[in-house]
Amino acid sequence: MKNSLPMPTPDPPSTRKKPQGRSLADCIAPVSTELGKVRDFIASQLDTPYEEMNRVLAHILQGRGKMLRPALVLLSGRAVGELTDLHIELAAIIEMIHTASLLHDDVIDEAATRRGKPTTNVLHGNEAAVLMGDFLLSRVFGVGIRCKDLEILRVLSEAACRLCQGELLQNIHRDSGCVSREIYFEIVRGKTAALFSAACRLGALAAGGQEAVVEAMAEYGLHLGIAFQITDDLLDLLGSENVAGKTLGADLAQHKVTLPMIHLFEGLSPEEADSVRSELFDAEQRNRLLMRLKQNGSIAYAQEQARTCCDLAVDALRCLPSDALGQPLRHIASALVMRHR
Ligand code: FPP
Ligand code: MG
Repeated sequence: MKNSLPMPTPDPPSTRKKPQGRSLADCIAPVSTELGKVRDFIASQLDTPYEEMNRVLAHILQGRGKMLRPALVLLSGRAVGELTDLHIELAAIIEMIHTASLLHDDVIDEAATRRGKPTTNVLHGNEAAVLMGDFLLSRVFGVGIRCKDLEILRVLSEAACRLCQGELLQNIHRDSGCVSREIYFEIVRGKTAALFSAACRLGALAAGGQEAVVEAMAEYGLHLGIAFQITDDLLDLLGSENVAGKTLGADLAQHKVTLPMIHLFEGLSPEEADSVRSELFDAEQRNRLLMRLKQNGSIAYAQEQARTCCDLAVDALRCLPSDALGQPLRHIASALVMRHR
């Protein structure tokens, strides 16, 4: 089996597919003014009496990405009713939890680059990065109390718990080289989709949505989050670091098995599976593995799964009284499936 596969070559430029349609940044433009308020609110919460600490926090805040998750709070709120100051606070909380989790994740993944900039762990060391994440989470408690709503606090606590459980489950199954499809989806639902779902649920809840609508918005966020992580895992395998702005190849480097690999293993005999597993985490065999994944249809399979999750997300929007109300959220689902291209 070794050396039986040719090395992959990039598609010639003429045949390379260009992403079409709206980008994720275009999709969240309708709430750009509110996102500015969310940024200002977060900055106001992260001011400390210590100059050095403020400098590190400023670097973390400057490196903020598209703010997709807080945008989901705002767009879900707007789809269901009126946006209020509570939405700004909830969007800020969701972004702070997300940023804290990435600070910790980059330590775990030993990542050097995030959003086109050196990670906090590289600039200031693992201890500072972990503690900065802890500081953000501590501020989340404070802002959460301001909301004076136990249901909101329950949703936030549950989401943060699911995030940690998903990441822990991933950690437990690292190195095994044989994660099942069920475990993979359980990890993804926890580490990524739970926060997407909470963002949409909270947006709808704060807009005074009826229970059925709030549940449907949470379901939209859950499916969208799963699709997001599948495409993120595809990017980790296939993307370019310049475009993604973060360290790629981390899943294999960290011995994490993602959906394309699971699909590949499902079609192999036990002997073939053992042979592939022995090469799986060897950086030198990466191109061979990529070629095998492409030839086996495993990349296409994962892309299809992401599309299916986006379709399920869009289906959940049927609960809204009009198509127009759900349009920005539908656009996000469409933009997401283009992300891995
Ligand atoms: C990115 O995954 C990481 C997450 C989605 C969640 C990380 C969660 C923790 C570290 C648990 C701590 C939780 C809290 C609340 C502080 P990835 O590595 O697949 O994506 P990447 O390519 O963007 O790094
Ligand atoms: Mg990571």
